[in-house]
Amino acid sequence: MIKNVIGLGLESSCDETGVSLVKNGSKILSNLIYSQIDLHQEYSGVVPEIASRAHLETINPLIDQALKKTKISFQDLDYIAATNRPGLVGSLLVGWQSAKTISLALKIPLIAINHLEAHLYAPFLEGHKLSFPYIGLLVSGGNTVLYEIKGINQMKIISKTVDDAVGEAYDKVSKYLELGYPGGPIIEELARNAVKKEPLFPKILTDPQDERFSYSGLKTAVINYIKSNPNKPKTEIVYSFQERALELLIRRVFKSARDRKIKTIVVAGGVAANKRLRDLLEKNKNENEKILIPSPSLCTDNGAMIAGLGYQYYLKKKFAPLETDVSPRV
Ligand code: KG4
Repeated sequence: MIKNVIGLGLESSCDETGVSLVKNGSKILSNLIYSQIDLHQEYSGVVPEIASRAHLETINPLIDQALKKTKISFQDLDYIAATNRPGLVGSLLVGWQSAKTISLALKIPLIAINHLEAHLYAPFLEGHKLSFPYIGLLVSGGNTVLYEIKGINQMKIISKTVDDAVGEAYDKVSKYLELGYPGGPIIEELARNAVKKEPLFPKILTDPQDERFSYSGLKTAVINYIKSNPNKPKTEIVYSFQERALELLIRRVFKSARDRKIKTIVVAGGVAANKRLRDLLEKNKNENEKILIPSPSLCTDNGAMIAGLGYQYYLKKKFAPLETDVSPRV
């Protein structure tokens, strides 16, 4: 009988501490997430020093809790995987140093994970069979990137944002309208209550040859509109903002997939939790296309995607030497 492989995954690249145990790269045994949103809310964004301190306080108790809950001991672990790039350096260091320590103490392989690649692995923790190639759209507060994914560690960027990320645009519009942080879920909820559903803003980057994303212009258009139309209901403003923001994602993702004759599309990252985006993807796909979106708890940062992708590296024996460092970029 083939032995089960158990991996511990650590995620600490931004404002969530994630600790997870995954079996054979596909079965989540435990997925603990400590979100720091409350700590950063008053600043309307992540404060790096607060984030790294909170990771430091949380990571060991979470590891203990995950092991206890699953009755797995340190000695049962076959590998340790952690995000070492990209992200906030201080935050990354907390998870990465913990992983190094565990690897050294237990003499188990250390696996360095690219956080963005892990996000696009998340659907394969929920029963979908991993197969290549697929188109990956990563939409979060820090990234709006479209990839062609040909294999493990084989991600080719098709296009990305030239300025703001889409989640960042949600957050900035929300901040301007004093709705709260993070803006995405608040705006999504508010947009549902719009009475008039009229386009208040133009479509973004309409040249059919252009593959890029851009959200700074839309954000400015929204802010200017609010200044000159102070009585317009917020519901209608955010509805129109959201339609334009998502329309660009839909246009880009299907064109890229169809130009390359790729049938599987994975959408991940915080913005992938958006129900309107999910509906639009389903509505616009054709019958041969498959859209894979992780469930909301796997859309935000989590350790399961790190341990899951770590298993694929484990199979390929792609281990990180102990002197491997963290990096703010990919
Ligand atoms: O991936 P994530 O949890 O963290 C990073 O950015 O790394 O994504 C957070 C981003 C925020 O900008 C937040 O406003 C956005 O995802 N977001 C959403 C929704 N939920 C979170 N945007 C639109 N609709 C949502 N339901």
